[in-house]
Amino acid sequence: MQCRNILVQLGISTAVLVIFLFVQNGYENSIRKSLKFMQIQVNQFQEAINSNDKVDQPPKVDIELQKQDKVPNENLPSRSKSNFNPPQIFHEWHNCIMPNLTNYREENPTNNDWIWKNLPKVMQQCQGILMNDTIKVDDFRNNDETKRHILPLNEDELTTIITLGVGRDTVAEENLLKALKGPSKFYGADPIYEINAEKYNKFGTFFNFGIGAESGMFNLSVLIGRDYAIRLLPTISLVHFVKDILKINFIDDIWIDNEGAEYNLFPYFLKDGELDRNNITVCQCNLEAHSPNNEMKRKFHEFIFQTLNDKRYALLLPVSIASHLRIYLVNFGNEKCLKKYAKL
Ligand SMILES: *[C@@H]1O[C@H](CO)[C@@H](O)[C@H](O)[C@H]1NC(C)=O
Ligand SMILES: *[C@@H]1O[C@H](CO)[C@@H](O)[C@H](O)[C@H]1NC(C)=O
Ligand SMILES: *[C@@H]1O[C@H](CO)[C@@H](O)[C@H](O)[C@H]1NC(C)=O
Ligand SMILES: *[C@@H]1O[C@H](CO)[C@@H](O)[C@H](O)[C@H]1NC(C)=O
Repeated sequence: MQCRNILVQLGISTAVLVIFLFVQNGYENSIRKSLKFMQIQVNQFQEAINSNDKVDQPPKVDIELQKQDKVPNENLPSRSKSNFNPPQIFHEWHNCIMPNLTNYREENPTNNDWIWKNLPKVMQQCQGILMNDTIKVDDFRNNDETKRHILPLNEDELTTIITLGVGRDTVAEENLLKALKGPSKFYGADPIYEINAEKYNKFGTFFNFGIGAESGMFNLSVLIGRDYAIRLLPTISLVHFVKDILKINFIDDIWIDNEGAEYNLFPYFLKDGELDRNNITVCQCNLEAHSPNNEMKRKFHEFIFQTLNDKRYALLLPVSIASHLRIYLVNFGNEKCLKKYAKL
């Protein structure tokens, strides 16, 4: 209890500090700039970004991801009995994508680089197999990107969306809400309260903390005024958030755009990873991987090959932009997801 109070206190005082810094940095001028966060270990800062208007990336800092990976334990029995075999069409997709990737399977800097650069082309070549008839993916645009989502075949079913990193922009969520005929629940988390809370609470529930692989106080990169700055802010693990706070175990779509924190979340999605171990199902996921250094490229490479090896998520609709890569994952290894979204 005591601990929680301290966390809350810290959260409040940090929010106050952030608001104060906002004012200092000419908050009004930058009201429409997106505000995102990144969970990093700061080793050293270089020059802050120059003060021209365009802020679409965090400043270049020399970062090292905090050591908090949950390596799936081979000996742990999976609690979600996912012996479910994906449908034939998924195997066709898999057989299409694998031959172009297998030569790059070994993890080394050259292959990690190759995957980061060339995966999009290979994905695009195969996605028609699943997207022509089996699933109908719709686009939901916000101010700087497009989120993908399949609407439920039975439109009366509940849709549960989680947004990690609200970034002052809820246009895609609102567009999706308009398209949904049935009930929906939107849960958004961002360590910055200003603007995000007000916007998100109009249609969903806003949570004022970062979400990462683990709970704790972490140095996050947040945009304050026009500049990204590092702030020590409360972070909650994704599993704790879903299981203990939301108390749900079925997520229709999770939108991950948290400026670097995504790399440590990759292992969550693997077979026998944190989600499986907690019986949490994710049907769809919009994932943005941000400006990787070599270690992040290695993590990305590992994530892609393990995901392909799991034969659960299809990798679709890549977008390479600036130094980011957006991919869209659809779960073909879960019966409930398939019934809800796929025409088989
Ligand atoms: C994948 O491999 C096939 C067969 O070798 C080739 O024709 C095709 O161009 C490759 N696609 C990409 C995106 O590299
Ligand atoms: C998907 O549809 C497009 C357009 O009709 C077609 O060109 C393409 O060959 C189809 N792809 C597959 C794998 O069926
Ligand atoms: C956050 O960053 C500050 C400044 O670099 C450092 O002193 C502190 O140890 C960091 N805290 C955590 C929890 O990483
Ligand atoms: C796992 O979740 C499903 C619903 O998604 C439920 O039917 C099942 O009983 C749960 N299993 C365990 C072991 O909690």
